[in-house]
Amino acid sequence: MVENIDRFLVAEGPDGALAGCVTYQVWPEIGDPLKATVELQSVAVRETCRRKGIGSMLVKGALARVRVLEPADVTVLTLTPDFFATLGFREIPKTRIMHKLYTGCINCTKHTDPFTCPERAMALEMPKG
Ligand SMILES: CC(C)(COP(=O)(O)OP(=O)(O)OC[C@H]1O[C@@H](n2cnc3c(N)ncnc32)[C@H](O)[C@@H]1OP(=O)(O)O)[C@@H](O)C(=O)NCCC(=O)NCCS
Repeated sequence: MVENIDRFLVAEGPDGALAGCVTYQVWPEIGDPLKATVELQSVAVRETCRRKGIGSMLVKGALARVRVLEPADVTVLTLTPDFFATLGFREIPKTRIMHKLYTGCINCTKHTDPFTCPERAMALEMPKG
């Protein structure tokens, strides 16, 4: 937790409880190491707080946070591609994120093969400069 907590953004609900969160991981091993790919992770909004723009706000907050790293793109593996499509993400072949598949998906307990896993890979191209 201590190693990862500083990359978490959280949204607080009106009751003061956690309404949602997002975090990210930098992957210099994917694409140009000087324009490292950033992956969004743990994008989640509490069920009772959904469809109020909180998920979009969190993703936009994470994008603003990682912009200083000048990534070529921001990727995500997701079961809700339609949500990410509203934010400009487009589907990409999973072969573009092989390092993630080898180091992350390899530990998955739900699916034996990342290519048959229902999660879709998506990317948002980030503006240069
Ligand atoms: C996906 C998730 C984060 C969206 O959070 P949210 O706060 O409800 O999203 P927003 O209110 O910002 O949605 C913005 C738009 O995205 C689209 N959208 C949101 N959730 C969607 C869903 N489940 N399916 C399809 N489109 C969706 C809609 O167009 C929505 O606009 P609308 O409400 O005006 O129709 C939330 O449903 C969730 O936590 N799901 C479970 C975990 C998950 O799937 N996380 C993503 C995997 S990385």
